[in-house]
Amino acid sequence: MDKRHVLDLDTYSKKDIESLLENTVEMKKLLQLDTKKIPSLNGKTVVNIFLEASTRTRVSFERAAKILSADVINVSGSGSSIEKGESLYNTALTLQAMNADIIIVRHPHAGAPYFLSRHLDASVINAGDGSHAHPTQAMLDLYTVYEKFGKIQNLKIAIIGDILHSRVARSNIWGFVKLGAQLVLCGPKTLLPKKFESNLQQIYQAGSKNIRVENDLRAAVKGVDVVMALRLQKERQKHWSVPSIREYANLFCVTPEIMKHAKKSCIVMHPGPMNEGVEIETSVAHSKQSVVEDQVTNGLAVRMAVLQNVTLNNIGKNK
Ligand code: CP
Repeated sequence: MDKRHVLDLDTYSKKDIESLLENTVEMKKLLQLDTKKIPSLNGKTVVNIFLEASTRTRVSFERAAKILSADVINVSGSGSSIEKGESLYNTALTLQAMNADIIIVRHPHAGAPYFLSRHLDASVINAGDGSHAHPTQAMLDLYTVYEKFGKIQNLKIAIIGDILHSRVARSNIWGFVKLGAQLVLCGPKTLLPKKFESNLQQIYQAGSKNIRVENDLRAAVKGVDVVMALRLQKERQKHWSVPSIREYANLFCVTPEIMKHAKKSCIVMHPGPMNEGVEIETSVAHSKQSVVEDQVTNGLAVRMAVLQNVTLNNIGKNK
């Protein structure tokens, strides 16, 4: 794996992920200090190219880079020359020519950050590419579970909802399986990948058979330590994959009644943004079991660790 870039967790070893979690512990300690500033990216330029909507990922990368003393530039589709038809490649080359050291990219098409990583000297971080991957979201989810339980090995984790279109689910599956969790993936058949079996085979080969698919929500959450609800990704569905939102919510919304089937100590996660009343009931989203806001705080610490890592791994290699 080329450690200058962060594209997905499939190329990360268990040791790589554990090392990142340890670095995140240090970053969280830094966030508790009054002076939240260290000079590790002093003189570096970080460019956020977000060609899809984002609040958490974009803002936390910007904040993380500023805490590490980098200069930060934000580029969006609207208002940039992308509106005039400039390609992503030429946009990225233009930004690199202005000394960008790290390019963080969110793109509606799977593979866009991979393409850039093959052509740029700058480090490329995938901030979400289509339905494919969202590695830093998975890292912050892994860290949040690790922080709550002190381990990940053998924990039972139910990921519920639109798995088919979820880059968060894909990256999380890699991460949690590599760290030895037992996963249950639950959703309607229309929202589970059609070639799921071959995808699962690939993950089995990565070292775990601890993964199963379940269509019944109560069976999926029975005795689990973690419930992770996912948003219905309407923007990625070519055809509407469920008969109606109401029917989907009747069968797959995480409610207080559903949570009774999980362990008492179970935590509730959601990558956000949440559609309360669809995949998660408001009272669960804001319950004592919910760690949704911890996920956001941990996202900042994880992204600080990631920016620092790629910078260390790119010393002497760019420009
Ligand atoms: N979880 C996530 O990626 O949120 P944003 O779309 O707000 O960045």
